Amino acid sequence: MALVSEVARYLCILLIFALIVNPPQNFSIVDPGYLGYLYLQWQPPVALDKKCKVEYELKYRSVGNESWKTIITKNLLYKDGFDLNKHVEGKLRTLLSKQCTNGSEVRSLWTEASYAISEKGSPKTKIEDMNCIYYNWEYLVCYWKPGITIHSDINYFMYFWHEGMDHTLQCSNYFQDKDKNIGCKVSDLESSDYKDFFICVNGSSKHETIRSSYFIFQLQNIVKPESPDYLYITVENSVDIKMKWNTPEGPIPSRCFTYEIVVREDDTSWVFGTDKNNLLKKKTLNESKDVCFFIRSKVNIYCADDGYWSEWSEEECWAGYHTPNLMFIFIVPGCLFIVFLLSILCMALDGGKPEPKLNTTEVENESNSYEETLC
Ligand SMILES: *[C@@H]1O[C@H](CO)[C@@H](O)[C@H](O)[C@H]1NC(C)=O
Ligand SMILES: *[C@@H]1O[C@H](CO)[C@@H](O)[C@H](O)[C@H]1NC(C)=O
Ligand SMILES: *[C@@H]1O[C@H](CO)[C@@H](O)[C@H](O)[C@H]1NC(C)=O
Ligand SMILES: *[C@@H]1O[C@H](CO)[C@@H](O)[C@H](O)[C@H]1NC(C)=O
Repeated sequence: MALVSEVARYLCILLIFALIVNPPQNFSIVDPGYLGYLYLQWQPPVALDKKCKVEYELKYRSVGNESWKTIITKNLLYKDGFDLNKHVEGKLRTLLSKQCTNGSEVRSLWTEASYAISEKGSPKTKIEDMNCIYYNWEYLVCYWKPGITIHSDINYFMYFWHEGMDHTLQCSNYFQDKDKNIGCKVSDLESSDYKDFFICVNGSSKHETIRSSYFIFQLQNIVKPESPDYLYITVENSVDIKMKWNTPEGPIPSRCFTYEIVVREDDTSWVFGTDKNNLLKKKTLNESKDVCFFIRSKVNIYCADDGYWSEWSEEECWAGYHTPNLMFIFIVPGCLFIVFLLSILCMALDGGKPEPKLNTTEVENESNSYEETLC
């Protein structure tokens, strides 16, 4: 009996020892001033057996979001991008590995932290309708509407930052309306895609505080390409419409494009999509006068999650039915040449033996009728 209770006591102590592990210390969410890129950081728990391998389970979200993002890490720091218009909350606990606790995984209680940027100024003073487009994957253009305010001295300023930049930069190329900044163009954005791009538009006025607005973009997801050019269309074997075009010039690789093509036969149009830069289609209408197409481009799903369509290209038509062009190039000069030959012939005949007038007119008539049949 004594032995059994001794063993039970021992097991109990072991169990209690194993189950109690402290949460990490000094968990905090720190804003280094990068407009939304925050550091979640902490210290190891107290009274930790040095031989034990510790991991941390970190959960965080913007307040209002249903789902937490979960990270398991051995580090004491985790960085991520947040929408600073919203409050941020995080929770953290210690995990002890199975080797350390002889079988069962041990977790500490949660420790919590939150962060909110100080919200100064009335929400009405914030800018509205922010719209940013990364044109041809080359330069960023953003536009906004000023907030509502009774003071006319208000002006807005745009700042941006992405991973790899030493510090935030202010826009150096504003678009203005009545001396107020309403947009910005940012060029020379190196190695800024496939990572969060943070923007803050704040403002100043002598009479009131202006509320700041924060935005996060992934630049590759807001690309608007140029429209495709050098469109070419031909109809082969009277039924096969072959179309091709050039990928828009610029830094976007050709494998990153998708296209929407509108093929028009007289008054009827069909829409097609492809990732290649050519399209083959059967003619559907007999005797159609016009066979034309026009096209627009977008970055495809292999290169970005989203994007904007380019403007539509000019319409390009098959020249096959448009004989006036051909006539102008070949037949008209041909006719002129024949007329020229005939007039030389007439002159030669005139200069040589005088001929009865009737003959010359006959020749002229002949040449006229010849022209008519040709032209
Ligand atoms: C909520 O959180 C998830 C995961 O972190 C994220 O993908 C999603 O965009 C968030 N939703 C909103 C509305 O912020
Ligand atoms: C884990 O349990 C095994 C067998 O139950 C034992 O031999 C070993 O010493 C235990 N290890 C620790 C660290 O308690
Ligand atoms: C706007 O934000 C930038 C970057 O955080 C800051 O340096 C600047 O002082 C702010 N301007 C105003 C008027 O608040
Ligand atoms: C067009 O009409 C002609 C004569 O009616 C016919 O021989 C030809 O097959 C038709 N072509 C198509 C593409 O329908």
